[in-house]
Amino acid sequence: SDRLVIAIDGPSGSGKSSTSREMARRLGLAYLDTGAMYRAVAVAFLDAGVDPADTDAVIAATTGADIELSLDPDESWVRVNGRDVTAEIREPRTSAVVSTVARIPQCRADLVARQRALMDAAPSGVVAEGRDITTVVYPDADVRLLLTASEEARLARRGTELGGRLSASELRDQVLRRDRDDSALVEFQTAADGVLLLDTSDLTFDQVVEAILTLVKEST
Ligand code: C5P
Repeated sequence: SDRLVIAIDGPSGSGKSSTSREMARRLGLAYLDTGAMYRAVAVAFLDAGVDPADTDAVIAATTGADIELSLDPDESWVRVNGRDVTAEIREPRTSAVVSTVARIPQCRADLVARQRALMDAAPSGVVAEGRDITTVVYPDADVRLLLTASEEARLARRGTELGGRLSASELRDQVLRRDRDDSALVEFQTAADGVLLLDTSDLTFDQVVEAILTLVKEST
């Protein structure tokens, strides 16, 4: 078909969000940040005062959440149940509970189905990024890519993104704890069969974008 679907997975700090967005811009495709959907659900259940330990309530909050998000790579916004949560989804209190949603299979199934539907509806195609896009959400993507980076490089990038708001040890705790929680859910640290691996540790942003553009040309 004329559509192009690019699936990109990787841990936090691998550079997947900024490079996926830029790929979408360059190729004229939609951009889907699946992590933003997990984060939006986390905000929804915090809003509703749901106890994270109450699995049934978390499932109900997830399946009942009305999630809207921008698929335009030049515009970034997320709404949950009609409320703009663009800034809130990035707050530490949200990051701290997002794994609660991610580790419940019923929540994952619900979000995976929504993600597929959004990807299928993008007229010229989409760059989608997360932890399980290459393996679960869209294993049929035209290009499947896993971005990795050394722990040192990932901590440095997250530190820059957070604008030095955390001490080195707080940052280390947060990033490594979330990676450990996430690794228990989906395998995103080693490339599945047919998934291309790109180590971004020693690459600049522009070099990562160029490398992915080359891979896309080679594989389409
Ligand atoms: O990508 P981001 O760091 O914003 O994702 C937030 C959280 O959402 C991850 O730490 C993970 O728990 C969950 N997630 C997931 N599967 C995805 C995307 C995100 O489990 N495809």
